[in-house]
Amino acid sequence: MNFNGIDFDTYFKNYPDEKGYFGKYGGSYIPPELQKALEEITQSYFTICKSSKFVSELRRIRREFQGRPTPVSYLERLSGKLGNVQLYVKREDLNHTGAHKLNHCMGEALLAKYMGKKKVIAETGAGQHGVALATAAAYFGLECDIYMGSVDIKKQAPNVARMKILGANVIEVTDGLATLKEAVDAAFAAYSRDYENCIYCIGSVVGPHPFPLMVRDFQSVVGIEAREQFLDMTGELPDAVVACVGGGSNAMGMFAGFLNDPVDIYGVEPLGRGATLGDHAASLQYGSEGIMHGFNSLMLKDENGDPAPVYSVASGLDYPSSGPEHAFLHDLGRVKYDVVDDEETIDAFFTLSRLEGIIPAIESAHAVAYAMKLAKKMGKGSILINLSGRGDKDMDYIIEKYGIR
Ligand SMILES: Cc1ncc(COP(=O)(O)O)c(C=O)c1O
Repeated sequence: MNFNGIDFDTYFKNYPDEKGYFGKYGGSYIPPELQKALEEITQSYFTICKSSKFVSELRRIRREFQGRPTPVSYLERLSGKLGNVQLYVKREDLNHTGAHKLNHCMGEALLAKYMGKKKVIAETGAGQHGVALATAAAYFGLECDIYMGSVDIKKQAPNVARMKILGANVIEVTDGLATLKEAVDAAFAAYSRDYENCIYCIGSVVGPHPFPLMVRDFQSVVGIEAREQFLDMTGELPDAVVACVGGGSNAMGMFAGFLNDPVDIYGVEPLGRGATLGDHAASLQYGSEGIMHGFNSLMLKDENGDPAPVYSVASGLDYPSSGPEHAFLHDLGRVKYDVVDDEETIDAFFTLSRLEGIIPAIESAHAVAYAMKLAKKMGKGSILINLSGRGDKDMDYIIEKYGIR
């Protein structure tokens, strides 16, 4: 399929290019000593990902340890309530550890093992990436350091306990707003000090080349499975696909399965408390071109051009930028990016729980909220939502802040 001059039949061969660019976005903006370390990761990834040993080991792990393929479920009661649009969810909440993050963590940790590294390092926001990486580290016998802002440590206490039980060191970050951006800063600094022994396992399709490429590749299992399952269940493709976007890994994984199809694709960002800078984290909607954490993308900036303070009710979405591939697809118009606010999200959280018996992660509830609005607008057809994770981690916080509705 050709879309605005881009041939999507060959898209994955051409994007990113060998320097990690999706058009003008992406690249690798890091100090020279780290560049060497990332080149080692890039070389190893390109060699190993093509070896049948690596591919078959990862496939076995996905089947026997992660419990893949995760199902697609039809949301009968929610669809009935909204009219004539049929809603479906890809159940990444049923992936081991309760979210999509394990898809790239098992890949990254397997790569670390093949490269002879002893330790994995990462940041986490909602704690899902930290739990997933701690799980992968335990599975492969690697040490694991997770950097987490003190605000998120309080908000996501169950996930902090899980990481510790799994044997990871959780390192508290108190700088700045003490959320995801500061955690990434601290994890990068730790990696620069110890890159010979460890590998940075970034939590999304962000960061310098090759992370956006590698994480997309590992997450594309979501879209590939979902496309086949949806065709199998309904005999056709969905009319629309919807996923929430923080850094953008669950969305990129899902979208990868449908970019070359006549399917409308929607990425949903958090509008938080509203459109004023500082009250949301909708970088694709309101951001402009800027470099942070080693990559060029659309970014929310303060008056000095630095990453702006951001906010979302979902710890996993409050990041002032998004992956470079999303910025590319945004400018191209292939994916439409839109927003939902905290209130709409909390409403969707309770609606999905009550009508379908599925408690979503607050991040994923953004996608559900948007799909509910889209269904009313579409009037007929079908929507496939990526339910990126389950809401166990959020229950205490929701009950304390919003009560039972
Ligand atoms: C369940 C869940 N969904 C979505 C996200 C957002 O990340 P990404 O945009 O990389 O999928 C997170 C991040 O922690 C998460 O835990």
